[in-house]
Amino acid sequence: MSAGPGFSSKQEDSVTDETRETIAFLNRLLEAERAGVKVLARLIPDIRNETVAELARSFLRDEGMNCQVLKTMIENMHGTVSPAVGDFVGKVEALSSMEEKLDLLVRGQEWVARQIRKNRSMALTAPDRLFLESIKVQHEHNVDALKDALNG
Ligand SMILES: [Fe+2]
Repeated sequence: MSAGPGFSSKQEDSVTDETRETIAFLNRLLEAERAGVKVLARLIPDIRNETVAELARSFLRDEGMNCQVLKTMIENMHGTVSPAVGDFVGKVEALSSMEEKLDLLVRGQEWVARQIRKNRSMALTAPDRLFLESIKVQHEHNVDALKDALNG
């Protein structure tokens, strides 16, 4: 019998629903961060505003770091790491102008911060809780910085 997505079978008897839900949540975030990496890597060569390009390069480093942190958290919980990339990539590619793409990038960052804010009661260790909080604050910080750069 399968334990469902996010779990390998040998752990299925010992895990709580809360742990299962937490791993599913972390996998959703991982997929979103992976999508962020892909979107940023494709956008950066076409960004003409050097301030915005520099920010995008730092976001790309952040997204890559987050993927590694989230993957490690899932593995430490004995969960199965999702190989998927979030559908955000297709949504950004469907837009024609750089302005629209960057606007959606801002909203994507806000979405991640909001998801973490909404999922407070999770089966996480204290250090992992701080890692997640840090990813939330990083996204809020990046949203502010990109909005300033786009409007200034
Ligand atoms: Fe992100």
